[in-house]
Amino acid sequence: MNHQAKLRWGILGAARVNERLLPAIVEAANAELVAIASRRPGAAAETLKKYAPCYPNIQAYDDLDQVLKHPEIQAVYLPMANHEHAKWALRTIEQGKHVLCEKPMALSVTDIDAIESAAQRYNVKVMEGFMYRFHPQHARVREILDSGLIGEIRSVRASYSFMMRPARMYRLVEDTSKGGGAMWDIGCYAIHSLRMLFEQLPKSVIATAHYVESGADISTSGVLDYGDGRFAQFDFSFQRARRCEYEIVGTKGGLKCHVVWQLPGDVPIISWWTEDGRQGEERLPVANHFNLEIEHFSDCVLNDKAPALPLADARDNCRVVVAALQAAAEGRRIEI
Ligand SMILES: NC(=O)c1ccc[n+]([C@@H]2O[C@H](COP(=O)([O-])OP(=O)(O)OC[C@H]3O[C@@H](n4cnc5c(N)ncnc54)[C@H](OP(=O)(O)O)[C@@H]3O)[C@@H](O)[C@H]2O)c1
Repeated sequence: MNHQAKLRWGILGAARVNERLLPAIVEAANAELVAIASRRPGAAAETLKKYAPCYPNIQAYDDLDQVLKHPEIQAVYLPMANHEHAKWALRTIEQGKHVLCEKPMALSVTDIDAIESAAQRYNVKVMEGFMYRFHPQHARVREILDSGLIGEIRSVRASYSFMMRPARMYRLVEDTSKGGGAMWDIGCYAIHSLRMLFEQLPKSVIATAHYVESGADISTSGVLDYGDGRFAQFDFSFQRARRCEYEIVGTKGGLKCHVVWQLPGDVPIISWWTEDGRQGEERLPVANHFNLEIEHFSDCVLNDKAPALPLADARDNCRVVVAALQAAAEGRRIEI
């Protein structure tokens, strides 16, 4: 039993997503933010001023090594650009520190294998930051599915879209091989949710995408084939009105989770229907999945528990995402 009450965190990178994650570390009862570092002079201090103005003891550094080698820091949150995750995850692990890595953990399965070997060698915990998974609404969905209300799952559709603001277009500057585009940014969430619901790897994937000049996909749709007529459809875009939902159709009815990738204040809603005419809608309490993710990972490290999202999950997600990208690029079915 570990009697340390708070896990001591550092952050590598003054990324925009700190707006959500940094307050979660600061507010968690079992976490303490020791420092944040950026490669841009003054950016780490600016981030603290914006998101943790009432915590003068948190250090800001203009050199990533100051966090990487900080003797007090036990765990590092890694919110860098997609193509940098694997390299910095490995460097952090080699300092004996635990890693919570933003999604996608890596752009290739080989990189995830290297991260897993290093994590075993240095005896640290590493988790991919699919924060949405920590929202209690998915446990409620699982409860309804397990009750048999809608029967066996036959198909699922996950849709994630919004109109990309011009200020965010930097996500489309690189092609998909360098982590740019909608697949790595939001498609990996949609695919993750489909995998969470089917609880297994699909057999194959087909997909089609619309690309911008850089080679980044901006709108992509596709189907994961689970065999025996069971399909999972994904549909995501930076060129459509906001949708962030999944819908399940079973042998006896259907269920929809209306607000999966939540913004602050979003009300979780689950609705369902059955063939024999019953229907229901549940409005769940508002919850902050970032806070729950930080509390979970801190608890895992402090009390030596296995993270809810193991590295095998990161590997499977990467495998499906890479296959879906290939299917869209080559216009053919890819076996997984
Ligand atoms: N879980 C979520 O809800 C969520 C939401 C959004 C994004 N994400 C993920 O989080 C990661 C970061 O995304 P983001 O949109 O927050 O990235 P971002 O703001 O572009 O930051 C990424 C990295 O680029 C550097 N950077 C930031 N602003 C910069 C600028 N103006 N000029 C040059 N470099 C700059 C920062 O490193 P330095 O500080 O060292 O320069 C930062 O670590 C991505 O992997 C993304 O997929 C997750």
